[in-house]
Amino acid sequence: MFQVTAKQTEISDKFIKRDSNMLKQIYGTEEVIPYWIADMDFPIASPITHAMQQLVSRETYSYEFDSKTVFNAIADWNQDRHGLKLNPEHFVQVPGVLSAIAMLIRDFTNEGDGILIQTPVYHQFRRLIESAGRTAVNNTLKIENDRYVIDFENFEAQLQSGKVKMVLLCNPHNPVGRVWTEPELQQLVAIAKKYQTIIISDEVHADIIFKGSTFTSMAALDYENSLTIIGSPAKNFGLNSISNGYIYSDNTALREKIKATSTSMSLDHGNAFTTYATIAAYQQGKEWFDSFLSYTQNTRDWIVAFMTKQLPQVKTFVPEGTNQIWFDFSGLGLSSTELKALLTEQAQMALTPGTWFGEADENFYRMNFASPLEQVQASLKQLKSAVNH
Ligand SMILES: Cc1ncc(COP(=O)(O)O)c(C=O)c1O
Repeated sequence: MFQVTAKQTEISDKFIKRDSNMLKQIYGTEEVIPYWIADMDFPIASPITHAMQQLVSRETYSYEFDSKTVFNAIADWNQDRHGLKLNPEHFVQVPGVLSAIAMLIRDFTNEGDGILIQTPVYHQFRRLIESAGRTAVNNTLKIENDRYVIDFENFEAQLQSGKVKMVLLCNPHNPVGRVWTEPELQQLVAIAKKYQTIIISDEVHADIIFKGSTFTSMAALDYENSLTIIGSPAKNFGLNSISNGYIYSDNTALREKIKATSTSMSLDHGNAFTTYATIAAYQQGKEWFDSFLSYTQNTRDWIVAFMTKQLPQVKTFVPEGTNQIWFDFSGLGLSSTELKALLTEQAQMALTPGTWFGEADENFYRMNFASPLEQVQASLKQLKSAVNH
């Protein structure tokens, strides 16, 4: 069972999330509670711990990986959770989700090509695109009825320009928490088909889906010119530093190309830790995950209710998925310096600045709420006092 235990207070000072130098550098102080990086504060599922303990107790670390069992475990998990049929033979394993994206960019676009992203979006997308000598082409998400939606008109115009060779989709979308619906994805695919543009879908947050929303994978849609990154237990099982990336495609030509690249770089296999952790997570982690998800759902509901009733000046975008919640503080009428001081010095919260995600307005911040509810409640109450001071 998922539990919030005292263990999270015995954490290492090497955690990036709590690294004092990092906090000082970003927030000007280490006296803040970290809600920035997308790591959870909870002990992981005990079957994963047991698998790791068994591995360590053998006191030997020979070459060992078992991709077949890993891919079967991922396929079974997705069938069970999302009704998604994945062929275990159609995966390519690489070291992580970001390395998967970096490889796909290099394999399927050329220097100078445009790659479309939809800001505000996970900040590493732009970095990966630009560091590969490609151009990030933006299709800014629109806000309609307090919800982010895709600007399909601009999306099509960008693809029609001929400059965009790849679309990098984030589903569920970090940081705004949208879980793209099947009709939205179908519309996206219809446009991409028209201009023969490849779609890469980063689905690392796929399992953290709240009531009322349904996750649809790109892999479920009829589009052969797509590759999906699905199956990393990093976010849903708290395995950020030991998880691999899994690229999936039913298109043999695309798959063979990426397989050849990963093999040529000897990046095509995991190690004993990632193998044991992933198999344990997907084969034995269901009970823990269900319980974690319901805890997270409860935290999300509490935050949304609190913010809408107690701090209506702050616009809260209700996340449909992910452990992230997105706020617009412009209603407070503060300058960006005043807002930063309010959040860090008075509320003592380390939220992720929206500007990191390409949001032009400095009033936006993201909060990772995968923390004990009591802590989240205390922080937001402190924020309310700071606002009303
Ligand atoms: C959308 C998205 N993709 C990728 C990553 C990072 O994946 P990895 O650590 O496996 O490279 C994150 C981490 O927050 C993320 O939010």
